[in-house]
Amino acid sequence: MTKSVPFLDLEPSHEPLRGDLDAAWAEVVDSNAYTLGHLLEVFETEWAEYCGVEHAIGVANGTDALEMILRALEIGTGDEVVIPASTFVATAAAVVAVGATPVFTDVDSATMLITGDHLRAAITARTAAVIPVHLYGNPVDMSELSQVAEPTGIAVIEDAAQAHGAQIGDHKIGSLGRAAGFSHYPTKNLGAFGDGGSITTDDAQLAERLRRLRNHGRAAQSDQEYVEVGRTSRLDALQAAILSVKLAHLDAWVKTRREIVESYDEHLPHGLKRVGADLLTSSSPHLCVVRVEHRDRVRSELQDAGIGTSIHYSDPVSRTPAYGGLSGVHPIAESSADRALSLPLWPGLSEQQIVHVCAELGRAVSRVSS
Ligand SMILES: Cc1ncc(COP(=O)(O)O)c(C=O)c1O
Repeated sequence: MTKSVPFLDLEPSHEPLRGDLDAAWAEVVDSNAYTLGHLLEVFETEWAEYCGVEHAIGVANGTDALEMILRALEIGTGDEVVIPASTFVATAAAVVAVGATPVFTDVDSATMLITGDHLRAAITARTAAVIPVHLYGNPVDMSELSQVAEPTGIAVIEDAAQAHGAQIGDHKIGSLGRAAGFSHYPTKNLGAFGDGGSITTDDAQLAERLRRLRNHGRAAQSDQEYVEVGRTSRLDALQAAILSVKLAHLDAWVKTRREIVESYDEHLPHGLKRVGADLLTSSSPHLCVVRVEHRDRVRSELQDAGIGTSIHYSDPVSRTPAYGGLSGVHPIAESSADRALSLPLWPGLSEQQIVHVCAELGRAVSRVSS
């Protein structure tokens, strides 16, 4: 009998790296430098190079990354920031934190991503920025979006929290806007062993300001000169050292993730299609999401069969109590939220397990609809 399949298992990714991870931990202990310092600089250099940008700035988490980009671009009260309704609440939280207003758009039905048309329809005289979210690891068509944004001077800020290593043509996600915010939350495609985040950008002035903002507003060249109001939002040396170890494996993991979702695409029950399936070759699959009727009952049937699933997300942000009432009606985001079901996806998931998940999913779907 096939054993149960967890929604997520990080052990197969971490176990082969145990020696390197232990060495990284020891290096941090020996360094006596637990915030900022050499190990953070090493990760920032490697990560900038990987993403194909000039600068990477390690910060405390992905939400701070987005918030600080907005702050550094002086976006705030009176400004509107366009974001897709289908995203994690953090995208909206960052906008509200700087005093700006999130303007939610609907999303494309096949990809659940924002498009140029969505942005065009949302632009007003107050629009200062758009935050395309590369949801589930599938990249937004950035050239289409930039064509709409650029003539109007709207800043394009990538929410790359779910898409480490995704790539459009030769260009990595994180290099396709004014700046990008990444989350390194443990479950992410490049995850730390705790909270972590980073910002990537080609803009040297913006990078310098972000380095200041994350460190109490302290000038780079001085310990004692506080040139603007900042905060504490640094990526710890420990998390940076772990991320450096893991970064060396990111490409291999992205490849494996693509093979896994490709296998899902082959074995999913008739009539079900993975969200963003057509973007396979450019994506860094983070979540494998299908849409099913009677989702909660299907989920419970799968749970009874020992298969872990999750929901991303049960509400579009615009329908949550926290952000509801802010704006608009988003039929695709809303109907997707009611039907979205995330299936197991992690490096180490076997073909046999995928076939089993798909067979049980097929059985569950027929049972609840009969
Ligand atoms: C799309 C998206 N944006 C932003 C974030 C925020 O990242 P963090 O949890 O590191 O603050 C996340 C994290 O889950 C996310 O999925």
